[in-house]
Amino acid sequence: MTTEQTTSPPRAGVGIAAQGLGQSVRSGRQILTDISLSIAPGELVAIIGASGAGKTTLLEILAGVQRPAAGTVTYDGSAAAGTIGVVPQDDIIHRELPLARTLRYAARLRLPSSTGPAEISDRVAEVLAELRLTDRAATPVGLLSGGERKRASIAVELLTRPGVFFLDEPTSGLDPAIAVELLRVLRALADTGATVVLTTHQITDVDHCDRVVVLTRQGRLAFTGTPAAARDFFGLRSLVEVHLRLDEVTQPAEWPDRFAEQRPAEQPPRTTDDADVAATPARRVGRLRQWAVLTARNTEIVARNRLTLAILLGSPLMVLGMFALLFRPGAFEPTRPSPTVTVMILFWIAFGGFFFGLTYGLLQICTELPILRRERLAGVRLIPYLLAKVAVLLPLLALVDLALLGVLRGMDRLPPVGGADFAALYATLLLSSAAALALGLLCSAAVSDAAQATLMLPMLCFPQVLFVGAILPVPAMAVGGQCLSYAMSNRWAFEGLGHTAGVERLWRDGGSPLGPPLLATYGDSFSRPVWVDWLVLGGFVLLFLGAAWAVLLRRDPRRAS
Ligand SMILES: Nc1ncnc2c1ncn2[C@@H]1O[C@H](COP(=O)(O)OP(=O)(O)OP(=O)(O)O)[C@@H](O)[C@H]1O
Ligand SMILES: [Mg+2]
Repeated sequence: MTTEQTTSPPRAGVGIAAQGLGQSVRSGRQILTDISLSIAPGELVAIIGASGAGKTTLLEILAGVQRPAAGTVTYDGSAAAGTIGVVPQDDIIHRELPLARTLRYAARLRLPSSTGPAEISDRVAEVLAELRLTDRAATPVGLLSGGERKRASIAVELLTRPGVFFLDEPTSGLDPAIAVELLRVLRALADTGATVVLTTHQITDVDHCDRVVVLTRQGRLAFTGTPAAARDFFGLRSLVEVHLRLDEVTQPAEWPDRFAEQRPAEQPPRTTDDADVAATPARRVGRLRQWAVLTARNTEIVARNRLTLAILLGSPLMVLGMFALLFRPGAFEPTRPSPTVTVMILFWIAFGGFFFGLTYGLLQICTELPILRRERLAGVRLIPYLLAKVAVLLPLLALVDLALLGVLRGMDRLPPVGGADFAALYATLLLSSAAALALGLLCSAAVSDAAQATLMLPMLCFPQVLFVGAILPVPAMAVGGQCLSYAMSNRWAFEGLGHTAGVERLWRDGGSPLGPPLLATYGDSFSRPVWVDWLVLGGFVLLFLGAAWAVLLRRDPRRAS
């Protein structure tokens, strides 16, 4: 990557050699068989074949996104490709931000840390010009047309001037004129030296390419060479009928065999020992910078999405309103307390903090898994990614929790604690929210979409109501329930709040006949020093975040064989 900025600088194109590639899926079915081909630097290549033939699979193996079950891929004879760009089929960039903002964030995540703001602006402007998107710079990505959004998705990868581009069905769903326009852009990229490989169902796209790779329905190589040679080989005037030709034969290996017989002896590609994952960019942006960029982007996305922000802040306020309506003042009055009401107030405050944290986290990751996957390929690390979520959501939770306690205290629904005790109540509630946020992020990392995440909500909430020790005191639970109660973050929050609120003293000495027997049923629930509860809650935060990290790591596409 050069730091010098000119409009269309020559790229160092990369030659790709694939030798004996095979891929099978878990059921044992072979989806690609013995594919060998070579692609010269600066070539524009189309992979065609019927739906399910294995085009995407081949593209991902060539790009180093998937590991092949057999065979090797080398880039200019080496196992590592340097900077490559992978443009997936779906439009996967955040829709909320204006295009230029999106590209700025993408550039800050992808370009070396030494790249200054002015240089980043220049690079973004260049890429916008190169893809003829300059006049769309201020438009939110979600409002771009399909063709513009495709180009925007390519623009993201263009920022780093990769030597190789892989695009999965870039022309699908585009009107023919826009598809041609896009092909021209890709042609221009190849002409400046980049190697460009795409899959397509639009046979007319092939006319713009230097090379066409034809796969049979069974995932075998029926042809690789120039489009003209392909027409000769299949005896066709236009490749539009190539699928019919492929389907004419009865033996799946017939076309591949015919091709192998007449195939000119290609230079056997030089291979190195291991076809290691190649999609890792040569130079990584540091973790701290990644965290800062992702935090800034998350903040901007939240801030621009007014309705989401209104829901995030509004629903806790509604809950607060309900609490104010439900609980009458003075339950903690030292001379005549209402012990049963105090239990409920403390429990519902704890549950509120838990619920807000959980719902803040639950949709964060599952709604952007494809984006995360793409950014992982661009070098984004999981720990900065997770901590950038926390960095944006925790301050909002802090605000909400403070409002909850402050207003209830002001309205005499809490004991008249001041200073240090109020701070201790607040610390307990915020830690409880943080643990729930981490639990929400964990579940969000584990499911596939928002619907599944929403379905998990009751399953996550019920035990945090039942096994907390408020509806039924812990000593009164069956043994199984008592054991389970230790795993409920809400239990520790409830008991911590109860300790700071002084319920033991209040119930013992408060003069209510209900107090002493109630206290007896609770055993020593509230006698533990509050810092123990804080430690446990902090442990939950770390545990859930660690688990979220492990789950995301397991889902990493590059681990798949
Ligand atoms: N992870 C997987 N598990 C099981 N089967 C898979 C998996 N990935 C791909 N396949 C199967 O492998 C075959 C090739 O899939 P691939 O997505 O590469 O096809 P394609 O040529 O890109 O199809 P399309 O044109 O519809 O995009 C398909 O039959 C698909 O169902
Ligand atoms: Mg596909």
